[in-house]
Amino acid sequence: MRRAFVVGHPIAHSRSPLIHGHWLARHGISGSYARIDVAPDAFSEFVRGLPGSGFAGGNVTIPHKEAAFALADTLTPRAEKIGAVNTLIVGPDGRISGDNTDAPGFIAHLDQSLSPDWPARTGGSALVLGAGGAARAIVVGLAERGLTRIRIANRTPGRAEALAALAPGITEPAEWTDLPRLMGEAGLLVNTTSLGMAGHPSLDIDLDALPAHAAVADIVYVPLETPLLAAARGRGLAAVDGLGMLLHQAVPGFEAWFGVRPVVDAALRDVIVADL
Ligand code: ATR
Repeated sequence: MRRAFVVGHPIAHSRSPLIHGHWLARHGISGSYARIDVAPDAFSEFVRGLPGSGFAGGNVTIPHKEAAFALADTLTPRAEKIGAVNTLIVGPDGRISGDNTDAPGFIAHLDQSLSPDWPARTGGSALVLGAGGAARAIVVGLAERGLTRIRIANRTPGRAEALAALAPGITEPAEWTDLPRLMGEAGLLVNTTSLGMAGHPSLDIDLDALPAHAAVADIVYVPLETPLLAAARGRGLAAVDGLGMLLHQAVPGFEAWFGVRPVVDAALRDVIVADL
């Protein structure tokens, strides 16, 4: 029996067990996926104990993603660029490899939600709001997918500048006050901030300046239909919700631990939406 986990602190609200549990049942795999609460001061001991523990690996969530990056024996190039690890795989030799599947998860969700030629339709240009950990993964994903101009606007400009150093010539920092002008040149607008999340202020920006072919993506998924996405739909723009990134980021880990590449479909979405 193959075993995997999600580790975080706190961990009670993680939806990963529902996602992996659904796939285990769907594929008739006799495996398990456990929720494990580990405090920051015990995390390195937890990771060091993985070889020989019976776990094939697991997901890592807040606040351990940077620590997992530091503790993994090997890193995928993507994890290395992002500086954070959300997926650990224990190899047959006991070595632990770290990956970051948030970036391909976000891109796979866009690929599934928009027409396949969406990168061309953006004109290569995206505007990313926010500069935290999620923004970092998304910027790496967009650059890997071939976008050529990724502007990053953040409440705290220094963080946007730091993130823009990731891919010089492609990424550039932008001023929040300049958003109306920047939106006119953006084929894809992505909100990576917590604005619009239940219990948080909403993201008050006017989408009028976006071109008619633009798409709007939010990483917030509680609520599923954020005011930003409602405004985008109101303007007739393609709107991409935040739940898909959560679902798609789980795919590579499941495949590595349980040996089957699962699909993200309406049945899985329904299971998670019922729990939101
Ligand atoms: P995560 O790792 O999930 O991305 P984070 O690192 O805390 O979380 O980043 C949250 C993002 O939301 C940041 O870009 C943050 O802006 P700051 O860097 O200025 O803190 C943004 N954010 C949170 N609350 C905000 C608010 N009220 N107005 C504008 N941006 C906000």
